[in-house]
Amino acid sequence: MKLKITVLPGDGIGPEVTREAVRILRCVADLNNYDFEFTERAIGGVAIDQFGTPLPAETIESCLASNAVLLGAVGSPKYDHLPPEKRVEAGLLGLRKALKGFANLRPAIVYPGIADCSPLKEEIVRGADIMFVRELLGGLYFGEPRGFVGANHEAAFNTMRYSVEEIERVGRVAFELARKRRKKVTSVDKANVLETSQLWRQVVTLLGKEYPDVKLEHTYVDACAMRLVTAPTSFDVVLTENLFGDILSDEAGVLSGSLGTLASATIGGDVDLYEPVHGSAPDIAGKSIANPIGAIASAAMLLRHTAKLDQDARDIEQAIVKVIDSGYRTKDLAREGKFEVSTTEMGKLVEQALAEVVDNRRAYHAV
Ligand code: IPM
Ligand code: MN
Repeated sequence: MKLKITVLPGDGIGPEVTREAVRILRCVADLNNYDFEFTERAIGGVAIDQFGTPLPAETIESCLASNAVLLGAVGSPKYDHLPPEKRVEAGLLGLRKALKGFANLRPAIVYPGIADCSPLKEEIVRGADIMFVRELLGGLYFGEPRGFVGANHEAAFNTMRYSVEEIERVGRVAFELARKRRKKVTSVDKANVLETSQLWRQVVTLLGKEYPDVKLEHTYVDACAMRLVTAPTSFDVVLTENLFGDILSDEAGVLSGSLGTLASATIGGDVDLYEPVHGSAPDIAGKSIANPIGAIASAAMLLRHTAKLDQDARDIEQAIVKVIDSGYRTKDLAREGKFEVSTTEMGKLVEQALAEVVDNRRAYHAV
């Protein structure tokens, strides 16, 4: 197995957490004799500093020549005064567009060992395991025309637009994932108001007929937002458009107790992109207190979706659970009676646990 991975550490805590994710990928490669090649490139604020643009051409080039991209985080308060098209966020959106991934997978998992950390009641969040499938290349984010009206910006507008093809291709990803999970898709829209949502509902309903083994339900986005915090265990796969998915997946972040544990994958395009859900968190950057689990779990998703190494992905996920269950936590989840560890220590603990998980599995298969 040979994999070329472009690593984009980015801003803030990005470099700290990606270092741990790469540590785990190297460990998987060592344990299995795989050949993983890592190339580091700049994105975000660090790229503006170095190249004058958040997404340099050599970064795109390297990503397009890879099997997958592993990103840390982008976002720098230093550049917040710039207009939207020059800010670091534009670099991320440009990268998504260049790689062409249209399906953004965001699992919101409540690890049993940290179910007490959510601001929501433990009995509500315990057992929640949701897979968001967010459409990532359409809707208001990219719809044309868009812009300001008048010399003094008296008004502004964006276009919400979806084609049948765009809805169908992301819908298919959701149904296929549901088949491997608890066989339920909740499609989220605003069909009581928006034409794009009416089309969304029609296309998803039709597509659902190809998946009779998967239960399909439709819900409005406002009702979904409420149900996410009142009955999160009632969801399996949640399928939705770009902006709704952006908002709902952040909301679901509170279930897990810390955004730091959440991973994401963007698939379906030319090159898949993996990144933790959390941002660059400039306030805690450089202190080695960031939680690397979201980045490490993103590396697991990389092995599953790009490399089709499902067993290795599950090994990493099991190692994460093992470390959490042993009571080790980074500062974001620290509580009385638990062991607080740094970003690097957490990475090393997962690495150690991974070696044990693999050893145990091999010993089991050997008998
Ligand atoms: C996310 C982020 C991005 C988005 C921003 C940084 C452009 O919020 O990945 O959810 O809105 O998609
Ligand atoms: Mn977001």
